[in-house]
Amino acid sequence: MFELVREDLARVEQEIAAQNALAIPPVAEISSYLLEGGGKRLRPALLLLAAGMCGYRGDSAIRLGAVVEMIHTATLVHDDVIDEADLRRGRPSANSRWGNHRSVLAGDWLYMQSFRMALRERNFRILDILIELTQNMVEGELLELDMLGRIDLSESEAIELAYRKTACLFSGCTHLGAVLGQRGPEIEQALSEYGRYAGLAFQLVDDVLDFTASPSQLGKPVLNDLKEGKVTLPLIYALECRNGDARKMVGTVLAEKGFHSVRPEQIAELVHGTGAVERTRRMAHHYAAKAKSLVSELVDSDFRRALLAVPDFVLDREN
Ligand code: FPP
Ligand code: MG
Repeated sequence: MFELVREDLARVEQEIAAQNALAIPPVAEISSYLLEGGGKRLRPALLLLAAGMCGYRGDSAIRLGAVVEMIHTATLVHDDVIDEADLRRGRPSANSRWGNHRSVLAGDWLYMQSFRMALRERNFRILDILIELTQNMVEGELLELDMLGRIDLSESEAIELAYRKTACLFSGCTHLGAVLGQRGPEIEQALSEYGRYAGLAFQLVDDVLDFTASPSQLGKPVLNDLKEGKVTLPLIYALECRNGDARKMVGTVLAEKGFHSVRPEQIAELVHGTGAVERTRRMAHHYAAKAKSLVSELVDSDFRRALLAVPDFVLDREN
């Protein structure tokens, strides 16, 4: 699936390393640790595939591939500070190694460096897309803070958070690829929506994995969302099916901010026993199908076939 863009992805890596080399040592140490942390490079791959689908293959796609990966990394380092997370991708988080102050500033640097690179394109549409998606993510993080610990979160609130957290960046990547291809507003919109639905599927799978995967699979503790006060879709669906006892149990974990009086197995039983895991997976399948239908209407090519395979890859992933 990513075979088509393998060489381009290697060039994205070189571009990222070149940008890192421009940082002063206190930033470079943190940012190279972050960028070498084993990310899947899914976002640059999506951008490259969308650009290829629209007939563009060139340096701008490589540079923008590096831009979206750097923005992604900046958001994760800030997120780990906010969540006080100790682990990311199976390694100590930046904040646990270098502390909050240095981590926030390294994230700021990455973020501004990515915009400096984007500015080189001298294309306001590209800046518009990047600014809109970053602001959307910041707003999402703020909204999520307000929703922390809320047991009565609705399905649509959870989906809006999934959009802001993950899907708007996916959508930005495929949109940027389409903008480079200059094939007109209809294809741009189709690819932007494709990214949005693929991103929603990705985030819902993430929410499920938090309940179903092992810590080694995830590279972080499991049932972590609830511990952090985040009520996600599987839990929302589970609570729709069970009476007051389940609500009380979940409320206890939220109040205690961890598993003290309630065992993690009890929560796992709740989401499995009510079919909530299956229901969330069905929802992820629904979004993946929507993503595929948007692309299947476009002209056939190797790139289109690769884009059609991405949502299935997202559904099957185990970490
Ligand atoms: C992860 O959610 C959160 C995000 C991917 C979005 C974070 C966005 C920000 C902190 C805005 C940062 C803004 C700038 C300008 C860089 P999660 O905590 O549910 O997932 P996790 O388990 O992977 O931590
Ligand atoms: Mg987090």
